[in-house]
Amino acid sequence: MICVSKNKSLLKSQNLKIFGQGKLNGIVEISGAKNSALVLLAASLLTNEKIILHNVPRLTDIEKMGNILKNLGVNLIDKNNKLEIDSKNISIKELPYELVNGLRASFFCIGPLLSKYGEAKVPLPGGCNIGSRPIDEHINGLKALGAEIIIEERIVKAKIKGKKNKLNGTHIKLKCPSVGATETLIMAASLADGRTTIENAAREPEIQDLCQMLNKMGAKIYDSGKEKIIIDGVNKLGGCTHKVIPDRIEAGTFLIAAAATSSSITISPVIPNHLEAVTNKLHESGSRISIKGNSITINPRELKAVNINTAPFPGFPTDLQAPFTALMTIASGESKITETIFENRMNHVHLLKKMGANIKLNKNIAYIKGVKTIKGMDLVASDLRSSAALIIAGIIAKGNSKIYGLEHLDRGYENFESKLKILGIKIAREFNNKSCKESKYKIDQEPEEIPKCTAA
Ligand code: EPZ
Repeated sequence: MICVSKNKSLLKSQNLKIFGQGKLNGIVEISGAKNSALVLLAASLLTNEKIILHNVPRLTDIEKMGNILKNLGVNLIDKNNKLEIDSKNISIKELPYELVNGLRASFFCIGPLLSKYGEAKVPLPGGCNIGSRPIDEHINGLKALGAEIIIEERIVKAKIKGKKNKLNGTHIKLKCPSVGATETLIMAASLADGRTTIENAAREPEIQDLCQMLNKMGAKIYDSGKEKIIIDGVNKLGGCTHKVIPDRIEAGTFLIAAAATSSSITISPVIPNHLEAVTNKLHESGSRISIKGNSITINPRELKAVNINTAPFPGFPTDLQAPFTALMTIASGESKITETIFENRMNHVHLLKKMGANIKLNKNIAYIKGVKTIKGMDLVASDLRSSAALIIAGIIAKGNSKIYGLEHLDRGYENFESKLKILGIKIAREFNNKSCKESKYKIDQEPEEIPKCTAA
């Protein structure tokens, strides 16, 4: 019987077959950060000159964002992990629903389009498997900068009020340190008249990477990475060449997989201070962590249960909560995992329980009692980071597993199974010749209706 996630997604015709009780060994190369590359692509709309991005991961989310830009009239040359972007001939300032629907990050285009062209029409990104994903902080901030915004038939229509056709710098205090809202408002303010300060700004490394690239383009942004960011608007932004930072979430996923299999591996390139909350928790749970330049080596000695509270950066990242929960299923002792960022990001828990994990879930808190082993099963992941968690569980488990729902995995992990194979894991992607509906599999509990998913 295939145990399926509560999400009524259409099962794609691919799965990963994993032979359990694997060990990892060696060095794994970390790709460029998905959540940086996506916003850097949106930021390229702010200039008529060429942007060259290096170290761009090959992911379906990146491909979707590229299609959205091309649909606007952007000339985008894809040279594997290098993208050349030329936005001088943008013809339209609205994004079509069918392109946006699969990619929440497409909403990041509203700031650049509004600030550069005075208008933008972007479909509401909608909710998703991990939560309702509101955009009120984006909207309120753009209004504070002088935008007139109406939402009609699920389309956000924004334009600059008055004749000046420029936004006006202002003071904005976010109610929560939203990554996306901080990014939208930085990009909008970069071409505004005067100074904008954003208080309670998100401090994620991907925001710092965005500010670094914008400053190379001629922006005047100060204190990115701090709670209060200052942007002095300029008249024009130029082109530049920029290298995307390493993906801290992919890096953390591999460290967690190593701890789960008592394997010693090295990950590189990384920026160690982007992973501090994660390496501290892995150290607390019994692994020895050594850092040399842009490499981190993990040497697990034992696996003790530890508690996790997800939090905005520099706290423990919500994107690693699911993989860490998989790790804690076999840790000795009792752990408590609290998800504080998204309201529905525990979809992996009931599947880990099917594998034999001892977890009690109370809303967004998972109480885990470590068990000796979990058993391999056929499972369907329901979102990007849950799919990574289930793959780690499959590697730990006794017996084989098949993980479905790879359309989620391929959004955020570049060549994931090939990297695991190089590290010694027996794993293979199987292509079935039919895609099948979930309804063909016995579902042991009525799946709750989850809003149509747009990607994170
Ligand atoms: C970004 O999403 C990332 N996505 C997410 O990664 C990541 O989990 C998240 O930041 C938190 O770190 C990209 O960068 C493309 P938020 P974002 O706005 O910007 C509330 C992955 O797996 N909120 O920081 O959408 C919201 O409900 C993905 O790679 C508002 O209330 O996240 C949530 O509870 C998943 N109003 C909290 O803030 C708003 O206007 C954090 O959301 C916006 C957000």
